[in-house]
Amino acid sequence: MNHELILTETRGRVGLITLNRPKALNALNDQVMDEISAALDAFEADEGIGAIVITGSDRAFAAGADIGAMADYSYMDAYKGDYITRNWERVKTCRKPIIAAVAGFALGGGCELAMTCDIIIAADSARFGQPEVKLGTLPGAGGTQRLPRAVGKAKAMDLCLTARFMDAAEAEKAGLVSRVVPADKLLEEALTAAETIASFSLPVVMMIKESVNRAFESSLGEGLLFERRVFHSSFALNDQKEGMAAFVEKRKPSFRHD
Ligand code: CAA
Repeated sequence: MNHELILTETRGRVGLITLNRPKALNALNDQVMDEISAALDAFEADEGIGAIVITGSDRAFAAGADIGAMADYSYMDAYKGDYITRNWERVKTCRKPIIAAVAGFALGGGCELAMTCDIIIAADSARFGQPEVKLGTLPGAGGTQRLPRAVGKAKAMDLCLTARFMDAAEAEKAGLVSRVVPADKLLEEALTAAETIASFSLPVVMMIKESVNRAFESSLGEGLLFERRVFHSSFALNDQKEGMAAFVEKRKPSFRHD
């Protein structure tokens, strides 16, 4: 794949996307998001990929949407062009699990991109924030919606209204990130987690992602019903037969991803 502002590679069954706009601290413009979308399309279409990692640099996962690019937008430019949300939806609609491996700044759209992923693994250097209020605007790619769901109203209001940054330890305590690791181990840890996920049955992994996400879109009763139906459907998979047979026979399962 040929990209200008991101790098992509395959490591075993893991697709890796590295944001590569270091001079702008990986600020997210339309081109970056289009390239991420294209990379996700390719990884989704590839049967050999079971999980995806998105990462940035040591200094910044991403310092937000590109302020220079949007500074002079009129309302009509933003609305008609569906600025920000148009090509950000692709991350949300990806059916394979995505891990955000975050070091340094994850601010504004950078924090929002990380939150759109399924798991955030943070380096101890990570800083999260929604400082848009300082720019005379507000989070526009999920910050006011995903952050309170992740960390609760009090901390979400605090971050969005005061523009302060949250360090990795606070983010882990608040439930935004799943683990904090030393900065020099970040990529290794994220890739290992992704490789573990990718070693399991791909349709089952997709069902789990779909079911956990349903918890944020439905009542408990609806969500439990959805889960039960999906659980029942897993009994149609060869991988369910293989997984349970392997347990009974005390051997390692060999999943075929069907
Ligand atoms: N957009 C465009 N360029 C950015 C940027 C952004 N969001 N963040 C940083 N940069 C650029 C800087 O302009 C600078 O470029 P030059 O060297 O050409 O001047 C370069 O990256 C390095 O940045 P700094 O010199 O500012 O580095 P620093 O270490 O002093 O500060 C920082 C780092 C605290 C992250 C600071 O750059 C900063 O506050 N950035 C903006 C953070 C922000 O407000 N993000 C929200 C954006 S709006 C948004 O995301 C809307 C939405 O919800 C979708």
